[in-house]
Amino acid sequence: MFPLIRNRRLRSSEAIRSLVRENILTPSDFLVPVFVTEGKNVKEEIASMPNYYRLSLDHLEKEVKELWHMGLGAVLLFVKVPDHLKDNKGTEALNPEGLMQRAIKTVKNACPDMLVMTDVALDPFSSYGHDGIVANGQILNDESADLLAQMSVSHARAGADFVAPSDMMDGRILSIREALEAEGFINTGIMSYSAKYASSFYGPFRDALDSAPVDIENVPKNKSTYQMDYANRLEAIRETQLDIEEGADIVMVKPGLCYLDIVRDIKNQFDVPIAVYQVSGEYAMVKAAAEKGWIDHDAVMFEQLMAIKRAGATIITSYFAKDAVRLM
Ligand code: PBG
Repeated sequence: MFPLIRNRRLRSSEAIRSLVRENILTPSDFLVPVFVTEGKNVKEEIASMPNYYRLSLDHLEKEVKELWHMGLGAVLLFVKVPDHLKDNKGTEALNPEGLMQRAIKTVKNACPDMLVMTDVALDPFSSYGHDGIVANGQILNDESADLLAQMSVSHARAGADFVAPSDMMDGRILSIREALEAEGFINTGIMSYSAKYASSFYGPFRDALDSAPVDIENVPKNKSTYQMDYANRLEAIRETQLDIEEGADIVMVKPGLCYLDIVRDIKNQFDVPIAVYQVSGEYAMVKAAAEKGWIDHDAVMFEQLMAIKRAGATIITSYFAKDAVRLM
């Protein structure tokens, strides 16, 4: 009579496996990060992110149409700002004719129903590569939050559906929400990078935007005074709770794979949608190992994306979105 219960019955064919499968990946799970650069007919591959590109606005238009036809209906925009436009206060971020503002309009013109989210942080605009204003050896909190609020209004005015503050200043969600309300943008959403860790997995992204922190006297050359310490778990709940109370519509955990315990904690505690950002370093590692022939690219990609979904992600922000959807 041994054994009566055989779990392998539910694994014996693809038909039964697919019938009892608990999670599936679909194109609508994905939010696609897009890097935008100045110029015409520019499509530059990012050295540390194989098969990922910086696109000028004309290519951006083609790209979003392609994404839309693939069933990918949401983009997260990042801009690479020319050096001569960078300063400590990220002045260029508020330019109504700036690259981000033009990129938003380009996407909306090409694909009116595409959901447009925008990165809100100072680093691509900052001559120091920090997410806030630098003064007296500090990254200023409240002054930076004010600026992020103005930046958010500028993005909303250009047509963004959601702003996505990725900076980790305290109180910035409230500043942004209040500024949006005051300007009448009551339907512009906020996706908050609420549990964003000071991670070494962001390296390739900083290559893509040329946004790495530079040497400044008495300021750490990393983001550890505002992004979270990766030793901490409970703090992620506190950060997320505050962001929800301040008005975040969607919260985020970032990076992805190393932080799935945090994703599940947050899923268990809160009832708002959770975005998970599988970041540039995670993408680069899979690409590099696959290039060497050490792993099966597509299989590892799907396993990782499914792990993110299984952990509790409502939204998966991933550079693999197109690769994955093409194979679905
Ligand atoms: C900037 C920002 C970063 C990422 C998204 N927004 C980098 C950073 O915080 O230094 C990282 C994304 C990735 O690595 O893919 N605030």
